[in-house]
Amino acid sequence: MSRVALEGVTRKFGDVTAVDNLTLEIKDEEFLVLLGPSGCGKSTALRMIAGLEDPTEGTIQIGDRVVNDVEPKDRDIAMVFQSYALYPHMTVERNIEFPLKSRNVPKEDRAGQVLEAARMLDLEPFLKRKPAELSGGQRQRVALARAIVRRPQAFLMDEPLSNLDAKLRVQTRAELIELQRRLLATVIYVTHDQVEAMTMGHRIAIMEKGVLQQVGAPSDVYAKPANLFVARFIGNPPMNTVEGDLTDGGLRVHELTIPLPDAAAGAARQAGVRRAVLGIRPEHLSIGTDGLIAATVTVVEALGHERHVICRLEDDQMIIVRQPSSDPSPSEGETLRLSADPEHVHLFDATSGQRVDG
Ligand SMILES: Nc1ncnc2c1ncn2[C@@H]1O[C@H](COP(=O)(O)OP(=O)(O)OP(=O)(O)O)[C@@H](O)[C@H]1O
Ligand SMILES: [Mg+2]
Repeated sequence: MSRVALEGVTRKFGDVTAVDNLTLEIKDEEFLVLLGPSGCGKSTALRMIAGLEDPTEGTIQIGDRVVNDVEPKDRDIAMVFQSYALYPHMTVERNIEFPLKSRNVPKEDRAGQVLEAARMLDLEPFLKRKPAELSGGQRQRVALARAIVRRPQAFLMDEPLSNLDAKLRVQTRAELIELQRRLLATVIYVTHDQVEAMTMGHRIAIMEKGVLQQVGAPSDVYAKPANLFVARFIGNPPMNTVEGDLTDGGLRVHELTIPLPDAAAGAARQAGVRRAVLGIRPEHLSIGTDGLIAATVTVVEALGHERHVICRLEDDQMIIVRQPSSDPSPSEGETLRLSADPEHVHLFDATSGQRVDG
């Protein structure tokens, strides 16, 4: 397997810059997830690595070789798409064998390799069936078997699980993680699903409007989002945010002044920030009687293992609190006092959206 490196890669379609100056290195044996909302340029980035799209600028390396001028078929990568693109008239066995055949692997070697890939994905019982005789999950596994059978330098996967129902998606997600660890494969995996990103990636690269926003381990990105976009994109329910003016006493939001942790206030002052956005995740708010923030409960969502309490502040802003189900449940219409755990307060420059508290 190999590393993949993009250096200053841009792709324009007329006036649209689909990918804007992307520099990113995917390490050997790394599972990297490319995450972002629809239209942010994920597929375009992946397609450039595959050679299906030419960069307008920049270089792409696979292993030690610059591949900008290398044909897709000679890049030694395997791609798995959302649509499985299996050959309907061929059996599972022939589908998995296809990439070997088109690379002129001798017949006597092919059978063993097909069987090995099929075994890895529990497809042995289905080898003689046609794709139409399989479930969606089984078809997706055939597509994966076809990708792994020839041991490419890297796997590129574009939303490979999005055609599966929720239960199968969770199962296939776990199988994919296991497969990656077993093959020690370099995987670049595109999704707009943050749960997939958080659970599957060694690192996540988050894009928005063609621009890379942050790269890091899932837990680091969650704990320290680099800007407001990432802060609001990662986490479900999303991070609560309130905007206000920075004063000596803290962040002033209408009549209320919310005290800030010293480090955050100091960093903001140093950076000359006047208008700031405070962020707090729903699990870092607590409901009590002496909290600073008055809020009225509008909806209580009980999810079994936890509860989301959706409140409105006096100025009508919405704020969400996440509680374990074992806590006593507030009732709809009740007025509460909320307090924020100061260790988990995030502070952003309201103008640039950048994190200011390190
Ligand atoms: N062939 C093309 N011609 C013109 N514009 C294109 C082309 N391909 C992509 N785009 C534009 O480039 C931008 C990025 O598209 P891309 O398909 O990479 O997004 P994506 O992040 O994969 O989105 P999704 O999650 O919806 O699949 C979009 O604005 C899209 O309209
Ligand atoms: Mg896409």
